[in-house]
Amino acid sequence: MAVRRGAFALVALCAVLALAVEGAAAKRPLVPAMFVFGDSLVDVGNNNRLDRCNVSCKANHRPYGVDYPCHSPTGRFSNGYNLADQLAQQLGFAASPPPFLYLSNASAIRRMSTGINFASGGSGLLPTTGNEVCVEVVPMSEQVGNFTSLVRRRSAGSGGRTAPDVISKSLVFISVGSNDLFEYADHYITEANISSPSRNDTAFLQELIASYTSYVKDLHAAGARKFSVLSPSLVGCCPFQRKVAKDYGDVDQLGCLGTANNLSRQLHPMIASMLQGLSQELPGMSYSLGDAIGMAGWVFTNTNFTADRACCGAGDFGASLCNSSVPLCPDRSGYFFWDRYHPTEAASAITAKALFGGAAGPGRFVSPVNVQQLVAPRP
Ligand SMILES: *[C@@H]1O[C@H](CO)[C@@H](O)[C@H](O)[C@H]1NC(C)=O
Ligand SMILES: *[C@@H]1O[C@H](CO)[C@@H](O)[C@H](O)[C@H]1NC(C)=O
Ligand SMILES: *[C@@H]1O[C@H](CO)[C@@H](O)[C@H](O)[C@H]1NC(C)=O
Ligand SMILES: *[C@@H]1O[C@H](CO)[C@@H](O)[C@H](O)[C@H]1NC(C)=O
Ligand SMILES: *[C@@H]1O[C@H](CO)[C@@H](O)[C@H](O)[C@H]1NC(C)=O
Ligand SMILES: *[C@@H]1O[C@H](CO)[C@@H](O)[C@H](O)[C@H]1NC(C)=O
Ligand SMILES: *[C@@H]1O[C@H](CO)[C@@H](O)[C@H](O)[C@H]1NC(C)=O
Ligand SMILES: *[C@@H]1O[C@H](CO)[C@@H](O)[C@H](O)[C@H]1NC(C)=O
Repeated sequence: MAVRRGAFALVALCAVLALAVEGAAAKRPLVPAMFVFGDSLVDVGNNNRLDRCNVSCKANHRPYGVDYPCHSPTGRFSNGYNLADQLAQQLGFAASPPPFLYLSNASAIRRMSTGINFASGGSGLLPTTGNEVCVEVVPMSEQVGNFTSLVRRRSAGSGGRTAPDVISKSLVFISVGSNDLFEYADHYITEANISSPSRNDTAFLQELIASYTSYVKDLHAAGARKFSVLSPSLVGCCPFQRKVAKDYGDVDQLGCLGTANNLSRQLHPMIASMLQGLSQELPGMSYSLGDAIGMAGWVFTNTNFTADRACCGAGDFGASLCNSSVPLCPDRSGYFFWDRYHPTEAASAITAKALFGGAAGPGRFVSPVNVQQLVAPRP
């Protein structure tokens, strides 16, 4: 027990140091608060707090965090900072919004004025996604519910006057959908017959969009107005899916799992038209949609990142679990994938910069505007 407490104290001290170092350089953030929803690409520790969540869905062990301040695991599925941290840095925050499940009720209410991260690794758009693999995750519906309940309690506490204003000026950042695609593709490839009569991709993708629509509507009803959304990337290209592709003979031109990449490519335009429709329907809503497929394709063809194996992992494509007993690459900044599912800090930094300040518009990786334009005060 003494050892355990000691370890927590060390992590807490590191967090304070990291904050101080970043804080010295940081300016006043461009938005009052940032609220983060979604999966392991943006989880900053929530899964650590889920007792039943399987170890394969927790980044609470070495070498996770090997390049993070103090080189300690924090629950981030990365060697260092993840996309939520990096977008927060772009926005000028001194520290990334803290994981919701680490906050007391009182500090959660307080943190509503600067931001909270609700994301949970393994979760997806559908309420059941993650249950089989991780046993326990926080589904999107609960992440959104926890946010809206805090908005209500905060506004009750302040007499309802100041609360909605902060929320409407703040940024909601959502990165979700990859796990739904993984589970669906893997089910039909490894368990069921790929041409099974029960498979209906259109119906499945429409179901994802229906869920997504309801979350955006709930967030808007709670006062959120500015949405930065990242659509699922070429999910078939992560090392685990490359191995499935090879094992089951479903390899596309990129060397990735064709079925999974095709689902991503179909989903992106559906998310784009969902957001366009909602922005016309919901008063005051504006958004910036990041095209993670375009960004990944650009990185694969225009940079020298090693993209066909994980930095941390054993076997074909480095597709095993990442832990302290498997090989770790020495040059993390040269690898696109940190582990069998997740990008390195170096790779997610490219995404954060493209989301925040990338050229925006039709045919670009972010549209209709980038995040910097999204959060700029209206004239
Ligand atoms: C939990 O993860 C381990 C390691 O991947 C795996 O062997 C085990 O089957 C998982 N448990 C469940 C219930 O999925
Ligand atoms: C914290 O808030 C939750 C949700 O409103 C409530 O169920 C719980 O009882 C509260 N806990 C404490 C210690 O007040
Ligand atoms: C988050 O929401 C879920 C589902 O409504 C609820 O069970 C849980 O208690 C909430 N968590 C907290 C910490 O308030
Ligand atoms: C897969 O399903 C199709 C359509 O039902 C059927 O024709 C085919 O024989 C099945 N293949 C296998 C390997 O079960
Ligand atoms: C697949 O689902 C779509 C949307 O629900 C439906 O219109 C279509 O008829 C279905 N296709 C088949 C082959 O069942
Ligand atoms: C993926 O989509 C392309 C283009 O629509 C198609 O030619 C290919 O057969 C699809 N591959 C799989 C595995 O679904
Ligand atoms: C990639 O590596 C090659 C050979 O070392 C080099 O010529 C090229 O400039 C590098 N490209 C980038 C984008 O770094
Ligand atoms: C690490 O993962 C490998 C491959 O899944 C497994 O065989 C090994 O037992 C794990 N080691 C630890 C320390 O968890």
